[in-house]
Amino acid sequence: RMYKRQLVCRRDIDVLNVPFLAIYESLIPPEEEKQKQKQLMALLERLVSKEWPAAKLYLYGSCANSFGVSKSDIDVCLAIEEADMDKAKIIMKLADILQSDNLQNVQALTRARVPIVKLMDPVTGISCDICINNLLAVVNTKLLRDYALIDPRLRQLAFIIKHWAKSRRVNETYHGTLSSYAYVLMCIHYLQMRRPAILPCLQEMETTYSVTVDDINCAFFDKVEKLGDFGRQNKETIAQLVRGFFHYWAYCHDYANSVISVRTGSIISKREKDWTRRIGNDRHLICIEDPFETSHDLGRVVDKYSIKVLREEFERAAEIMQNDPNPCIKLFEPY
Ligand code: CTP
Ligand code: MG
Repeated sequence: RMYKRQLVCRRDIDVLNVPFLAIYESLIPPEEEKQKQKQLMALLERLVSKEWPAAKLYLYGSCANSFGVSKSDIDVCLAIEEADMDKAKIIMKLADILQSDNLQNVQALTRARVPIVKLMDPVTGISCDICINNLLAVVNTKLLRDYALIDPRLRQLAFIIKHWAKSRRVNETYHGTLSSYAYVLMCIHYLQMRRPAILPCLQEMETTYSVTVDDINCAFFDKVEKLGDFGRQNKETIAQLVRGFFHYWAYCHDYANSVISVRTGSIISKREKDWTRRIGNDRHLICIEDPFETSHDLGRVVDKYSIKVLREEFERAAEIMQNDPNPCIKLFEPY
């Protein structure tokens, strides 16, 4: 009887693969958007190299890590060696250079936590943020992209979780909820922890890629094409993984003691990291270790109010996935 019940549950959840995959497909950016991004990058490179011939521009964030949905803004990093110039000065100068007829709304935000130049390209309709020498973000972008190449279920799961987080307004760091980057790390970690595992831990494998950025050695296995279909032993479907993800964050995660760590492919203790109490503004109410800046908790934006909001949203989503025969409507219902 037990066996029969499991079979039924399984079939019930699996009919949901169709609507979940349809949502995923509808969010994928069309090829023409990629072309427009390249076109804008080429324009920026031309303008920047006139002033700084040795400087380089890198795309990072969702437009380069493969977790970007259609119509995203693009994130660009200017890598430049100007020892005698501070970031605010470079930002001002960059804004000056880009203040060409072809670009609109060029703004220098020199006093933001991460100083940037913002602009809009009327030709492609793309908005863009340019930061200076944020090379760790360029490297973690590559790590995320490499993970996405290993098993297609990661990209599907992350698109659905990001879409949920935006619909439910729990993807707003300025309101104390989590960044898209944090949600993608949560998805990678979840798939690393499945048994059989759907994703390996690239930072625990043989080093095939290594760079040192801001005194941090970033090393991992990046020959992901060699991993074939790593996750093939695990037959879980996207609907099961979405349900399992919310169930984990609603009922299974030990918020008091645990840190999720993509770097080690495991859960580590808050005690080990000395993340047990509030220090300054870091409250460590939900702990997500950055894979390279290991002192950086991506949950640090979460405060005593927003942790409640977040956990209630996980519980709401878990409950819908468990009981609603047609969860796709309610799950993404605008908050
Ligand atoms: N990033 C980081 N540390 C953070 C937040 C972000 O290093 N605490 C870097 C990551 O490289 C990330 C990029 O900044 O990919 C952009 O962050 P975010 O806007 O959270 O993610 P996107 O993937 O760009 O998501 P969205 O589609 O919502 O723009
Ligand atoms: Mg972004």
